[in-house]
Amino acid sequence: MTRISVLLTTTLLATTTIAQSNREPPSTGLHSLFLSAGKLYFGTATETNNFADPTYQNILSNPLEFGQLTPENSQKWGLIQPQPGDFSFNASDQVASLANSYNHLLRCHTLTWHSQLPPFVSSTSWTPDTLRQLITTHITSVISHFGSACYAWDVVNEALNENGTFRNSVFFNVLGEEYIAHSFEVAREVAPPETKLYYNDFNLETAPEKQTAAVELVKSLQSKGVKIDGVGLQAHFTVGQTPSVESLIATLQRFADLGVDVAWTELDVAQEDVETASELAVEQQASDYVVAVRACLEVERCVGVTVWQFTDRYSWVPGTFPGKGGACLWTEDYQRKPAYWAVKRFLEGWVARMNVTRAFVGGNETTVRTVASPRGPLTEVTSGSERLEGSLVKVAFISFGVWLVLNMM
Ligand SMILES: *[C@@H]1O[C@H](CO)[C@@H](O)[C@H](O)[C@H]1NC(C)=O
Ligand SMILES: *[C@@H]1O[C@H](CO)[C@@H](O)[C@H](O)[C@H]1NC(C)=O
Ligand SMILES: *[C@@H]1O[C@H](CO)[C@@H](O)[C@H](O)[C@H]1NC(C)=O
Ligand SMILES: *[C@@H]1O[C@H](CO)[C@@H](O)[C@H](O)[C@H]1NC(C)=O
Repeated sequence: MTRISVLLTTTLLATTTIAQSNREPPSTGLHSLFLSAGKLYFGTATETNNFADPTYQNILSNPLEFGQLTPENSQKWGLIQPQPGDFSFNASDQVASLANSYNHLLRCHTLTWHSQLPPFVSSTSWTPDTLRQLITTHITSVISHFGSACYAWDVVNEALNENGTFRNSVFFNVLGEEYIAHSFEVAREVAPPETKLYYNDFNLETAPEKQTAAVELVKSLQSKGVKIDGVGLQAHFTVGQTPSVESLIATLQRFADLGVDVAWTELDVAQEDVETASELAVEQQASDYVVAVRACLEVERCVGVTVWQFTDRYSWVPGTFPGKGGACLWTEDYQRKPAYWAVKRFLEGWVARMNVTRAFVGGNETTVRTVASPRGPLTEVTSGSERLEGSLVKVAFISFGVWLVLNMM
């Protein structure tokens, strides 16, 4: 073969690869690209009422798309301990066992939370001692039941108001802010040592006083010697009102600087009015999703992204905020939306740039990061510059080939 036909063949191969990436089944997906980017997972919330839907399960089980599940409801107090001492693990066990069979990580959600409580918790007249004991029993029973199945636990959920004060709840009203440290201490004592213990909340991205209060909360726990491993930022956004990428990076980094992991734990981007959402709003949604995903990639301590359901068919948004909706990456009938493709294209570009950049920066490929995971290291560490020089040569060949073809047309 002549030199030119070698280049043309290279170009054709490259073109074929790009064309194939838009056809089913794809060779990469959101989760596989997250792993390539050095993150731990791209995941989704799910629940047992989605389990009999085969189309849903096909996507959920696809290891390219998802590597982590969060039970949307079944581990919440009202469902898991509806009566004093009466623990009901059936539904949450099914989610845990599905995660295990798909080899997805399980983020467990949630232990001490003011909402979706059973009547006996909200209506009993507790003393500080009896309420502390109730929290101890609940957390001990639930964490021990799941053991090492949980990669992480959202130990305390939504303890703060938008103005940065502590939210009134049965827990705060009886125990004051001490209930938070108590919950983490009990959790730490009973959880396997590798389980990550998180504080989780919403609007930390958009409400400055709430964000500052959460930072102070983490510092206060740390100063008392209470171990906290992560802060989960829910990231429920609205199209066109998603903060800028600079702002989201600064938010994640502010928590990361406290020495904890961070994650988007419930990401979705809702259309304000789903009936009238224009094509422009669909494009805006795509760019909002990319901004959120990019912020996680830019912050080293951001371990992963969980979407709060991947299809509009099962999204919580329309039921909770009438009129809003269309918040997920897949439509109700399981078509991938522009937001899905935008995130995927962004990740592909990121991963490709990441490898090439390394070659220029270090000269040697010594900067590949490994991520510790309960299932073993997720990215290989390689040394020496040979492989990277190889990819650089390839990139140069492809670019030159494209240039050549364009000039011959
Ligand atoms: C518990 O879950 C199983 C499926 O894992 C189901 O067959 C059974 O009926 C459930 N039991 C109750 C009491 O809900
Ligand atoms: C903060 O917000 C909460 C909940 O909305 C409210 O009850 C409380 O009065 C506010 N406190 C201050 C100091 O504004
Ligand atoms: C970039 O590097 C990662 C980790 O070594 C690898 O999984 C991925 O396939 C590489 N991507 C490209 C486009 O070469
Ligand atoms: C790259 O590797 C070579 C040989 O292993 C070594 O001598 C050199 O110092 C390295 N360069 C950098 C920038 O790490």
